[in-house]
Amino acid sequence: MAGIESDFIWFDGKIVPFADAKIHVMSHALHYGIGAFEGIRSYTQPDGKSGIWRLDTHMRRLGDTVRMMRLTCPFDQAALQKACFEVLDANHWTEAYIRPIVFTGAGELGLGARSNPVHTVVGAFKWGLYMGEEGMKRGIRLKTSTFVRHHPNAALQRMKISGNYVNNVLARYEAIDDGFDEAVMLDHHGFVAEGTGENLFYARDGVVYTPSAMNILPGVTRTTVLDILRHEGIEVREQTFARDALYTADEVWLCGTAAEVTPVREIDRRELPPSPGPITSRVIETYAAGVRGNVSWLRDGVIRA
Ligand SMILES: Cc1ncc(COP(=O)(O)O)c(C=O)c1O
Repeated sequence: MAGIESDFIWFDGKIVPFADAKIHVMSHALHYGIGAFEGIRSYTQPDGKSGIWRLDTHMRRLGDTVRMMRLTCPFDQAALQKACFEVLDANHWTEAYIRPIVFTGAGELGLGARSNPVHTVVGAFKWGLYMGEEGMKRGIRLKTSTFVRHHPNAALQRMKISGNYVNNVLARYEAIDDGFDEAVMLDHHGFVAEGTGENLFYARDGVVYTPSAMNILPGVTRTTVLDILRHEGIEVREQTFARDALYTADEVWLCGTAAEVTPVREIDRRELPPSPGPITSRVIETYAAGVRGNVSWLRDGVIRA
């Protein structure tokens, strides 16, 4: 199953073998995309045990998605956080990518179905570098997507829900088929929004810019990057900008739980100065050390069992 295997999965409150974590093909979520989910990473800490990066913030965002979608999840935040550690323990892993999902099960199939069971799953698997070793070292190549992010009244962009991701998958297919590593998605006004699974930053003349978190996924990594930049005394502006700001940037990077902090070397065939630049390098280093419990002022972000 191409790398998503594990020995055990947490399914509706119980640890079950990977092969037994099954749902019915008539599950409502499969047909309409009603699955609130998260992507979380755990890292081995200096004591050799597991620490999950900003698990509380991820679970709060999951709760926000559940609430916006008007789902009823039978597990509270504390139970879901515990479930993440149970999955790691069951698989004997300290480092993994963790995927909680709360979704509508089989019952009625109408769009307005409200009485279907809601299932809760926490899976985990080994996920290495999302953008590959070469991409992390030399920077990746971006393409502005022809697929535009949803209008804020077409879908709620701050929800991390399966159905919203059709838009992202279309953009990612297009970028990869056209020979690029990732897409830059624009919003309905034509301004830069985010990557298909990452938030975006650029730097020019020592100042860092990123789109405000109003109509994008409010990334947990984005907040960590903002914390790092502010801690370093680097000026950051959360503001609207068009793609041409990226063409003339000194540095561009993407960030997300899967992609971590990924440098960018080219956008729409315009080369950037040699990548990673000094600010990107500093952020990459501090992030990598922080999530592994090696930066004292970031240590609160490491959640332990
Ligand atoms: C569309 C989108 N933007 C940004 C991100 C980055 O968010 P995070 O840093 O919380 O992983 C993700 C990943 O979840 C995403 O899917």
